[in-house]
Amino acid sequence: VIKTLQSNNCPVYFGPVGQSPLHKFLSSAENKKAKKFILVDEHTLDSCFPRIAEQVDALKNAEIIEIESGENNKNIEICSRIWEALSELKADRNSIFINLGGGVIGDMGGFIASTYKRGIRFIQVPTTLLAQVDASVGGKVAIDLGGIKNLVGLFSQPQAVYIDPGFLITLSKREMLSGFAEMIKHGLIADKNYWEKLKKTGLEQIEQYTDLIYRSVEIKNEIVIEDPLEKGKRKLLNFGHTIGHAVEALSLEGGRKALTHGEAIAIGILCESRLSHRKKNLPETELSEINSFITSLFPFYTIDEMDFHRLIEIMRNDKKNQNDSINFTLLKAIGDPVFDCSCTADEIKESLRYYTSLKLK
Ligand SMILES: NC(=O)c1ccc[n+]([C@@H]2O[C@H](COP(=O)([O-])OP(=O)(O)OC[C@H]3O[C@@H](n4cnc5c(N)ncnc54)[C@H](O)[C@@H]3O)[C@@H](O)[C@H]2O)c1
Ligand SMILES: [Zn+2]
Repeated sequence: VIKTLQSNNCPVYFGPVGQSPLHKFLSSAENKKAKKFILVDEHTLDSCFPRIAEQVDALKNAEIIEIESGENNKNIEICSRIWEALSELKADRNSIFINLGGGVIGDMGGFIASTYKRGIRFIQVPTTLLAQVDASVGGKVAIDLGGIKNLVGLFSQPQAVYIDPGFLITLSKREMLSGFAEMIKHGLIADKNYWEKLKKTGLEQIEQYTDLIYRSVEIKNEIVIEDPLEKGKRKLLNFGHTIGHAVEALSLEGGRKALTHGEAIAIGILCESRLSHRKKNLPETELSEINSFITSLFPFYTIDEMDFHRLIEIMRNDKKNQNDSINFTLLKAIGDPVFDCSCTADEIKESLRYYTSLKLK
């Protein structure tokens, strides 16, 4: 059975893509003749394209556009090549562009489609857990430029999003965990019940994931609908991300093990829960609940006392922080967040020290 929700006029479907309305949409009288393009990388071409091609007949004649996987390909040169390819293949205003892949494909493909000939229709088919619970809803599309993530982009809604957990079977444990960190965040900022459910389900039981992903998207969607342009409430989604982003950026600087987004966010959640405990009275019991669940799933990452200063510097440069203060979303309790809490460098350092001490326990 296919579940649905509406996100800013964009329908999001959950369940096997073959049972979803995708085929009907693509083969409808008005779309039958539209040229179809499907953007993949080498992994989604191997692991995901066969599933969708087999289940959705209308994609049989789609033009496949393949790019190399990886964040470092989410750039203007690749866009340029794809715009040129679209032009050579005579893509017109009526064409439909389908993004089959993780957040890199979704963000860049959405950007390419939204700008080609002032915008052609596109469809998101997210195939990583991160893209399913986060990247594919909310209408943000972007590419990186000059080493800055998502520097150039826009808000642009796809025709629809098709979320099929069946695609996740081929995803590595590490990539699963990366998306799981966002689901944990959704539970912590919005719904204690959901948090409990995540603890019970863990990572293994993918057959239960349709309902879990649905709830995550619903939580993100409720927040995004109230604040589509990120003026206030949407900041709740930044929980774990102020410190998490800095740790992620640091890990990408030379000589370190690069973290996935979710691995960094897991560290951010631990530190920001500590800040929540100290500044917003998040109960000790809930803090240790958060600690034990996250440390049972995610590998420990060494952060040196010597790196603290650099991390704070990265946080200060973050586009989301004006002036000198560093702003956080913190928790009064699980499911009860507050945004715009400013913390001092010393408080942040203490939370990092606390993270480091968790290994010793
Ligand atoms: N637009 C938004 O609101 C938003 C939100 C969060 C993240 N993002 C963006 O998302 C990107 C990260 O997304 P991601 O984590 O999905 O990374 P990704 O797209 O790089 O995918 C991770 C890896 O998994 C592979 N893969 C994808 N689906 C697979 C499958 N079903 N089986 C096997 N392998 C598969 C990919 O080829 C890639 O190697 C970042 O660029 C980030 O900026 C955007
Ligand atoms: Zn995130």
